Amino acid sequence: MSSSDSATATLPAVVIGAGLAGLTVALQLAADRQVIVLAKRTLEEGATAWAQGGIVGVLGDDDSVDSHVRDTQDAGAGLVDEHTARFIAEQSARAIEWLVAAGVPFSSDPDGPLGLHLTREGGHAVRRIAHAADATGKAIHDALLEQARRHPRISLRERWMAVDLVTERHVHQPDGSAQCWGVYALDMNSRRVETLAASAVVLATGGVGKVYRYTSNPDTATGDGIAMAWRAGCRVGNMEFIQFHPTCLYHPQERSFLITEALRGEGAVLRLPNVDGEAGRFMPLHDARAELAPRDIVARAIDFEMKKHGVDHVWLDATHLGEAFLKAHFPTIHARCLQLGIDIARQPIPVVPAAHYTCGGVVTDLDGRTDLPGLYAVGETTYTGLHGANRLASNSLLECVVLGRTCALAIAAAARRPQPSLPPWDESQVEDADEQVVISHNWDELRLLMWNYVGIVRTTKRLERALHRIKLLRDEIEEYYANFRVTRDLLELRNLVVCAELIVQSALRRHESRGLHYSRDFPNALPVSFPTVLIRPARSDRRRVK
Ligand code: FAD
Ligand code: SIN
Repeated sequence: MSSSDSATATLPAVVIGAGLAGLTVALQLAADRQVIVLAKRTLEEGATAWAQGGIVGVLGDDDSVDSHVRDTQDAGAGLVDEHTARFIAEQSARAIEWLVAAGVPFSSDPDGPLGLHLTREGGHAVRRIAHAADATGKAIHDALLEQARRHPRISLRERWMAVDLVTERHVHQPDGSAQCWGVYALDMNSRRVETLAASAVVLATGGVGKVYRYTSNPDTATGDGIAMAWRAGCRVGNMEFIQFHPTCLYHPQERSFLITEALRGEGAVLRLPNVDGEAGRFMPLHDARAELAPRDIVARAIDFEMKKHGVDHVWLDATHLGEAFLKAHFPTIHARCLQLGIDIARQPIPVVPAAHYTCGGVVTDLDGRTDLPGLYAVGETTYTGLHGANRLASNSLLECVVLGRTCALAIAAAARRPQPSLPPWDESQVEDADEQVVISHNWDELRLLMWNYVGIVRTTKRLERALHRIKLLRDEIEEYYANFRVTRDLLELRNLVVCAELIVQSALRRHESRGLHYSRDFPNALPVSFPTVLIRPARSDRRRVK
């Protein structure tokens, strides 16, 4: 599609991202119009396919919407928006039914609600996690992707990377109104940047875990949607709340392999290395819920114990659960660890915390509307108020499905608008980069400084140091962007540095410790607290359009 199509009455919607959020929007919106779905790597890559534990469903006789809202609020440490949490909990049964109807092979239990086996994770009062053994995300993603591939109104574009949104900065409107008209996207197959005019644009680009040196996240998680929305003038909220998952595998050959919290839900315990028996357990000293405390508490406790004892990992011990149980319930983890020489039925698993989930993001309402008309956002890229200061396990997949649907309905119901013609991308003033290695050096530097200075335990001095270095990196990267032809690595780095700055700026504004943000300078929570919402100061970008 090019700018010449923009006069047609119903342009396609462009969904940026082929994870659970993007596919949910696409499948439901395709009833109304053509949908183009962009994925910057293969369609299979993204956090969704890596999800292990499962998805919340308020389904059991022992469960209720109130109970789930309470658990979400407890985990969220006072910053959860109750209206959002309640809406999402109320819609959870419908969301699971939709996934079952789409063919997701959830683990079954003839006596369970809807015939499903429900497991448990930290912070949940009851068993309410629907799952497909320990590879829930892949089971969901495979089923939805299969439907999307077959859908006549969905066009899936692999290796297409959105660069920036087309807004009033590029298309002057006589009334000066701000809107999102489409997206500039790098087609990595042809190496050209194309202009996609759209009736609506949906950001479904996932989180920003890759901004940290150690992360459970896939390579796609570079905060592109957050950075694009920020550059387009949208508010971004709660970026200081980066969730560190307590248990990622500690192994030289496997840097991003998660050991699901469901293993602790089924009874696995954390121990210190070189200490035998019950005495090695440390979680009961930190929280009455021990290994099933919310993630921020468990990750901080591990960080504390590792520093106190000078060890580089702790053990997650599941040996007492037995080989047959582990193979049946956690086949992926059992097999992967075995390949790496760890028999989890006989040996404890070496684990460390790693950056896992972005609780903040682009501010939206419950229909995915952002501050910019025509621009919507869904999934991990957003801030909706559900997660507050710390996300409750397995609430993320649920949020993608529930708000993916409402977003599709809102787009379908929105008034159609006349579309101006959009200026093409112009690379006539730029050249190929002389040294790609500059990009990889900056990637490494940024990720290491975020790990060292903006991690689980923070201080103002360290945050200020980080900010100083981030600003230097940002200027260098912007200079590079202005002068050289764009590549995926350069674009991702440009987005990562924006997100790094947003995380640090947000952390510096929070003069308290709450949920995932812990500052040694402000160790207590304030009596009343609010989300940290940043608004981009008006400034013109160097842009590459004619
Ligand atoms: P993603 O699934 O990450 O999809 C992002 C998509 O955007 C990808 O297709 C990517 O290619 C595309 N993209 C990004 N930038 C661009 C761009 N510029 N142009 C074009 N395309 C772009 N949550 C749970 O609720 N339960 C769990 O059990 C669970 N387990 C997890 C285990 C792991 C190891 C990880 C990493 C996360 C887990 N989570 C879990 C979190 C959950 O998986 C994610 O929050 C959720 O899948 C996010 O879905 P999404 O659609 O927003 O993003
Ligand atoms: C896990 O399986 O431990 C991850 C669950 C989540 O991130 O919600």
